[in-house]
Amino acid sequence: MLGDILGKRLIMVGGKGGVGKTTCASAMALFCAERGKSTLLLSSDPTPSLSDIFEIEIGPTVRRIPKTLNLYAQEISSEVILKRWRERFGGEIYEVVRAFTDLDEDFVLQYIGSAPGIEEEYMLYYIYELTTKGTFDIIVWDTAPAGHTLKLLKLPTLFLKHLEGATRFYLQLMGYVEKAKEAVKLKAKRGILEIVDGWRRLSEEIESFIKDKGKVSYVLVTIPEALGVKQTERILSELKGNGLWVNHLIVNQVITEADCPFHQRKKEMQKGYLSYLRNRFPSLPLTLLRALPEEVKGMERIKEVQRLLFGLAKSS
Ligand SMILES: Nc1ncnc2c1ncn2[C@@H]1O[C@H](COP(=O)(O)OP(=O)(O)O)[C@@H](O)[C@H]1O
Ligand SMILES: [Mg+2]
Repeated sequence: MLGDILGKRLIMVGGKGGVGKTTCASAMALFCAERGKSTLLLSSDPTPSLSDIFEIEIGPTVRRIPKTLNLYAQEISSEVILKRWRERFGGEIYEVVRAFTDLDEDFVLQYIGSAPGIEEEYMLYYIYELTTKGTFDIIVWDTAPAGHTLKLLKLPTLFLKHLEGATRFYLQLMGYVEKAKEAVKLKAKRGILEIVDGWRRLSEEIESFIKDKGKVSYVLVTIPEALGVKQTERILSELKGNGLWVNHLIVNQVITEADCPFHQRKKEMQKGYLSYLRNRFPSLPLTLLRALPEEVKGMERIKEVQRLLFGLAKSS
């Protein structure tokens, strides 16, 4: 049941570009908010997608969606993420590096900050922090497109790796790790090993948070076409191989009424893919969302998608 998201803290919405992630994430966030949960809808997509669908300017700071009680939204660009990452970790990283060298701080931070995936790592950290602080009951994360779901799940490990990157680099330079550790101890003014240990603890905490089935729900969005089905298969089997899971699959853009040969044929084609998906993943809860005659923009249409996704009556 898609309604299960109400009991979670983080809903990650994944899938390839254009399948309806933002649309579904918005409707799910509205669903939670209307049921009394203070909800943050968060987008890390480089294009300002939430501003488009809600038809208001949403920026990098949290803002409440007008005419709703509990719904908040935020669009974070990679520049803002990198800036915050630097504010949070820059000092610590430089402190570790400085024990070994007098390389320029800007150089060091730029070098580490250019590591691929650092934005999403920071997003995960940011979400983890928000959840721990309890600022919101539920965070719905409209993730950046291109099947990143998998990569995201490996982030906590990467996160640590990047934070430790500077350290490891110099440890290698100095030869034996143990010898280097001694050097750290001697040179450190303030426990560098403590800082690195702190990073490790943090990365472990983030990892156990996103692997907590009681707190996190993964919703995958797809379309009943060859590309969508292939990608869903790939993501699901890779997740399974890693001991991870998807809670729900939304199949969007389903043709329900076909009143012309074109739509009739399309409907037939979709039927094949839908039964394929059902047979292939019999235990995966599936919700179909029909193709609407118009794009989904503005509160009224988001509400309509909410009704369709959660099987609600029109009056609600
Ligand atoms: N069920 C639907 N019926 C009609 N249009 C839809 C439906 N779902 C999504 N759309 C439209 O398709 C486009 C892509 O959806 P969007 O949610 O932005 O995808 P994504 O976030 O995955 O890139 C948008 O213009 C949206 O309004
Ligand atoms: Mg989007």
